[in-house]
Amino acid sequence: MSLPGPIDPPARLLMGPGPITADPRVLRAMSAQLVGQYDPYMTDTMNEVMDLYRGVFATANAQTLLVDSTSRGAIEAALVSLVSPGDRVLVPVMGRFGHLLVEIAERCGADVHTVDAPWGEVVPLERIAEAMERVRPSLLATVHGDTSTTMMQPFDGLRELCDRYECLLYADVTATLGGNPFPTDAWGVDAATAGLQKCLGGPSGSAPATFSPRAVELIEGRRSIEAGIRVDGDPVAAHPIRSNYFDLAMIFDYWSPRRLNHHTEAATMLYGARECARIILEAGLPAYQERHSLHGAAMVAGVEGLGLEVYGDRAHKMANVVGVVIPSGIDGEAVRGVLLRDFGIEIGTSFGPLAGRVWRIGTMGYNARKDAVLGTLAALEAVLRRLGHAVPAGGGVEAAYDVYGAAA
Ligand SMILES: Cc1ncc(COP(=O)(O)O)c(C=O)c1O
Repeated sequence: MSLPGPIDPPARLLMGPGPITADPRVLRAMSAQLVGQYDPYMTDTMNEVMDLYRGVFATANAQTLLVDSTSRGAIEAALVSLVSPGDRVLVPVMGRFGHLLVEIAERCGADVHTVDAPWGEVVPLERIAEAMERVRPSLLATVHGDTSTTMMQPFDGLRELCDRYECLLYADVTATLGGNPFPTDAWGVDAATAGLQKCLGGPSGSAPATFSPRAVELIEGRRSIEAGIRVDGDPVAAHPIRSNYFDLAMIFDYWSPRRLNHHTEAATMLYGARECARIILEAGLPAYQERHSLHGAAMVAGVEGLGLEVYGDRAHKMANVVGVVIPSGIDGEAVRGVLLRDFGIEIGTSFGPLAGRVWRIGTMGYNARKDAVLGTLAALEAVLRRLGHAVPAGGGVEAAYDVYGAAA
């Protein structure tokens, strides 16, 4: 076997729905040397990360920490820790990631009900209210921004509904946190989980998460300390949380002053997650979100300036991703291929019913930047023209420039 060379990836501008190009500051933080698991530097850094992410989630929740996994792992940690087999869970489904919540909740043994909206729309509050009355769930599990469709579910009224039915409220904010308002406490969200690879500007592999006192009480009621680290007085539950790795009660203990050993903290991801939060809070959360609104709006204008149609209900679109209807007669994969090969720019396709019908272009994290927006629009125009689709000359870049001009 010949030895492969060292890692040396080609230059890419990742303008898809995530992962996006990581902020170089995050990569630099991730190249720092390791310290031991209980080194004071390590435990201080864990505490700092908890505090920084309280800022990013706009929460006072004591239990704000990282789950060492991709975003999907944190969803699984939240659901397996909050849901006991047989519990009723209601999921509003408006795209692929709503289906993912259903799938995970079912694997947790929950009795799962859905309230569905067509892809490209959000689920109206009245329909969620009807379903809550019918199902009486103990958990309302939502996706805030469903990246598959670019739609963002409004949270107005959800806390009131959950209070009425004594139900916890969970949100998957993987695609939205940082780039769109998500005030966890003001919206009364009990559990929210994210990932670094979208608006937070880092790589995939660490999942910031936050849990309200109400959620923590439920999870701690299920606490069961594993043999080998258990001491007298530690609880052993008859029906422990069904996953060991994603047992949030044990993860809370690991992040608490007790530092009860669970997994080995992924120090490199911790450094990266810390830098992501520092970048956001240094800019100020409102300013950071405003940056996503501006560059997102410029990209939308540019797409329309090229004569292309924006996918889905515009009133409920996330700031950081735009769905673009692939013009008939154009091979969407061929366009993506030439963009990548000749310009080093990646845009996304979509899933399920939207595969081959919609491209998704992201403007988030490190790539929520004017040069990234203008460069992508110029390249997209060139590729469309090259593949035989007539587009207004300079239409994309000009329209984006107008957005920037108006904002200046
Ligand atoms: C809304 C949403 N939830 C969950 C996930 C899963 O994230 P990961 O691939 O990091 O596990 C994604 C990934 O794109 C997402 O967009």
